[in-house]
Amino acid sequence: MPGTYRMAFHSISINDQHKEIRGCWRTSPAVFNKLEGIFGFTIDACADRDNHLLPRYWTEEDDALTQDWSEERVFCNPPFGMAAKIVPKARTAKLAVILLPFTVLVSKYFSQNPPDVLLLPPTRWKYLPPPGLPSFTNSPLGTVALVYGPSPHEIDDLKVLGSVYKLT
Ligand SMILES: C[S@@+](CC[C@H](N)C(=O)[O-])C[C@H]1O[C@@H](n2cnc3c(N)ncnc32)[C@H](O)[C@@H]1O
Repeated sequence: MPGTYRMAFHSISINDQHKEIRGCWRTSPAVFNKLEGIFGFTIDACADRDNHLLPRYWTEEDDALTQDWSEERVFCNPPFGMAAKIVPKARTAKLAVILLPFTVLVSKYFSQNPPDVLLLPPTRWKYLPPPGLPSFTNSPLGTVALVYGPSPHEIDDLKVLGSVYKLT
């Protein structure tokens, strides 16, 4: 019996920790560097002072959803819970690349705001947990990248990262 209780408590604590950080899986440098090499982003739209991938970034306090994206070339790996609001916002950017779980493909907000290009990586991309936390699991979901406003040569270059589908 005590063993059972111990297991239950262990599982609660892992779940709580996972819940706390689930909106904060960091993009791997391998993926980000390739995307940055292709697009030359001006801002990391969803970040904090410890995990930003670009010199310019917005935090939860800034709230990316209230910022002007129209002059920006945006990179964005948002908390999953922001997806429904980030996707319509992406359309307002000069350029935006949004990383989301593939389940976005069956959402209403995706069909109402289709990206110009969809990138389907050939394997699941790995994400890093926030600094200091153990890497006890990887995101179980595969990623798709939604690209709004790319040029023809950027679309061509994107093919090094997977299958590229033009939707508009
Ligand atoms: C999935 S992490 C991405 C971290 C990093 N930019 C990367 O791609 O590896 C999402 C980040 O968005 C931040 N965030 C949460 N709500 C936000 C908001 N409304 N506006 C901007 N950033 C937000 C979180 O604090 C977290 O640091």
